[in-house]
Amino acid sequence: MVIIGHVSSLLILLFVSSAATQDASPQVVSDDQCQCYLTNGSNAHYFTKHKFFDFRSLSEYAGVPEIIQDPWGSSHAHATSDFFLSDQWTDNWVTQSWNNSELLESGANDASYLLINSPNNIYIEANRDEDASSDTYLTMRTSRLPRFQTAAEFESVATGLHYISVRMFARTRGAPGAVTAMFTYRGAEELADVQESDLEIRTMDPLETVQYTNQPSYTVDGDDVPEATRNVTLPRGLRWTDWAVYRMDWTPMTTTHYVDGEEVAAINFQNPRDPSQFFFNCWGDGGSWSGVMRRGHEAFLQIQWIDMLYNQTTKSTARSDGGAPEQFDVLAERDAGLCQQVCSIDQTDEVGTTVVIDGGSLGGDEDSNEGDGDEGGASSIFGVDGHLHHLSLWIPFIIAVTIGTGLI
Ligand SMILES: *[C@@H]1O[C@H](CO)[C@@H](O)[C@H](O)[C@H]1NC(C)=O
Ligand SMILES: *[C@@H]1O[C@H](CO)[C@@H](O)[C@H](O)[C@H]1NC(C)=O
Ligand SMILES: *[C@@H]1O[C@H](CO)[C@@H](O)[C@H](O)[C@H]1NC(C)=O
Ligand SMILES: *[C@@H]1O[C@H](CO)[C@@H](O)[C@H](O)[C@H]1NC(C)=O
Repeated sequence: MVIIGHVSSLLILLFVSSAATQDASPQVVSDDQCQCYLTNGSNAHYFTKHKFFDFRSLSEYAGVPEIIQDPWGSSHAHATSDFFLSDQWTDNWVTQSWNNSELLESGANDASYLLINSPNNIYIEANRDEDASSDTYLTMRTSRLPRFQTAAEFESVATGLHYISVRMFARTRGAPGAVTAMFTYRGAEELADVQESDLEIRTMDPLETVQYTNQPSYTVDGDDVPEATRNVTLPRGLRWTDWAVYRMDWTPMTTTHYVDGEEVAAINFQNPRDPSQFFFNCWGDGGSWSGVMRRGHEAFLQIQWIDMLYNQTTKSTARSDGGAPEQFDVLAERDAGLCQQVCSIDQTDEVGTTVVIDGGSLGGDEDSNEGDGDEGGASSIFGVDGHLHHLSLWIPFIIAVTIGTGLI
């Protein structure tokens, strides 16, 4: 009896200490200690790369630039601060300055005025909210001027993103006549061949609704493709003018959307298949989608941070800025096959940090990336909740021990 007592208390101790480490916040690590990352939610997948862009503490760069009133000056504007000249920015994002003059002339869409993307409309701004949740954020601005609409867009340098789980902590504000968006994009000659998955907020819409679409959502004949799109009411009474985490998981079979961790849409139809680029923009052209903005009015997409997990392939096309195509990261791909440490950006208590959720090896399944869409097996090894999975193994065991010692 005494011996059993000792053994069981030892086991209980073991259990308690194990439970304690499992329940406590998982260990925060740097990205070089992670060979892969597992997302959570109904469409959980592994990814090999992680990048976090934090615009919350950039007071040294903060300032709202005056709107440039003339078209040429707008598209040829300089960066609004050194932040947008830093490697952190230019290694990852390309600020755009294109305009829609050719589209307008050809009548290829129903834009009713000139739209010009300007580097002057992307800037770091001081957060003057009451109880501000950051010192600063990144603002993308669009405004209707007498001769045109000035707008903002930045694109990923990487063109070979092949699946991505991206989150932005953002809000949209301003007058009707603008669209704010984050999206995957792969261009094509024919409308029907474009591959694109969008989150869009139209400032003419009710404050509670956002739109998710796997483009194209219309045909060249002007017919709608209703299966391609979802009009979603934000959860828990949120409005798009509130700060919220907008998350898009583009994966082999579907694109799943979350708002503040809650799944709000999943679209399989026309799910983009091939390596793509990632975009953010804030624009209006007087067409039927954005609507018409009144002169002198403005709208904004404001972003505190962007957190993304992704895979990258060689199958990239030339870079949009004319630079050399990216090199295939052979090492990252090979290491992912081994994956000694599975990490998470979801299970962490602090945004932007990465935690270990499993130290085990993934085994055979993960070595091949060929079988598009067959990730279910690998995900189920760990379960969606990573570390909690192990705890459940202890429960029958501890019950058996306590029954054995007559405690129950
Ligand atoms: C992912 O995990 C975090 C932290 O536990 C949670 O807040 C979030 O709601 C989860 N998201 C999904 C889609 O399950
Ligand atoms: C990302 O790449 C890894 C390693 O090749 C692979 O195991 C994983 O399934 C890929 N993720 C997606 C969403 O395709
Ligand atoms: C608009 O773009 C065209 C090329 O598509 C270019 O020739 C023109 O100079 C641009 N306009 C402005 C105002 O920058
Ligand atoms: C979404 O639905 C609301 C009504 O519930 C409507 O006012 C809004 O225009 C719709 N948005 C789009 C993009 O269709």
